[in-house]
Amino acid sequence: MSKTEIRNHPKFYNVFISGSQERLKLYTKNLDLGKRIYGERLFTYKGTEFREWDPFRSKLAALILENPITNFLSENIKCLYLGASSGTTISHLSDVINTGIIYGVEFAERSMRQLIQNISNRKNIIPILGDARFPDNYAKYIFTHVDLIYQDVAQPQQAEIALKNCNYYLKDDGILILVIKSQSIDSIQKSEITYAQEKRVLEKAGYKILESINIHKHASNHIILLAKKNQ
Ligand SMILES: C[S@@+](CC[C@H](N)C(=O)[O-])C[C@H]1O[C@@H](n2cnc3c(N)ncnc32)[C@H](O)[C@@H]1O
Repeated sequence: MSKTEIRNHPKFYNVFISGSQERLKLYTKNLDLGKRIYGERLFTYKGTEFREWDPFRSKLAALILENPITNFLSENIKCLYLGASSGTTISHLSDVINTGIIYGVEFAERSMRQLIQNISNRKNIIPILGDARFPDNYAKYIFTHVDLIYQDVAQPQQAEIALKNCNYYLKDDGILILVIKSQSIDSIQKSEITYAQEKRVLEKAGYKILESINIHKHASNHIILLAKKNQ
């Protein structure tokens, strides 16, 4: 029997918490019972299996722990996830959105193979072997506009890649979550300058930065931008 007391996150749909505000832990309900993706702790509380969501392994968890104002999670959402890797974060998102759908794009074949093994029992993830720099190449797999684009690709020109995908797939009132790793864009320039440059790229293209969240506590040299199309 686990002693962890689980409660609903006060804001984020289908995300669960335990502990005090200063030492908050995050969890999702495991959609694929008994399956671990990255060695995370599994335990049963009141008949439900939960997976601990590690903010040092998942930048989305790190973002939620920073308590953003924008509420980007709800039931049934459609999401385009760029940089799915072997499935750490996308699997938690899959737990959260439940009957929604996530299109997971990844260009490294090895990661894609691991991803497919890891998520084979999850019906709400469609894995796509593709390059996020060329969004039209995977249009044949994505039949709809999406509510959320989450991008975490270690590439230069992260904002440009996000824009191309938003212009192609994001609903007019959809939300972009853009993980920016300054070292992937410019390893010499000060991170703050790189962040400002990426923000300007989005703003010049008509996007409004809703929030800019520093997640250095859990991932050095990373910030996360939440943005929307200006309407
Ligand atoms: C930092 S990892 C993503 C980690 C993942 N988001 C998670 O939290 O579980 C970055 C991933 O982006 C992928 N990637 C980099 N450039 C890409 C591109 N142009 N198109 C698709 N995937 C890309 C890499 O292969 C790598 O798996």
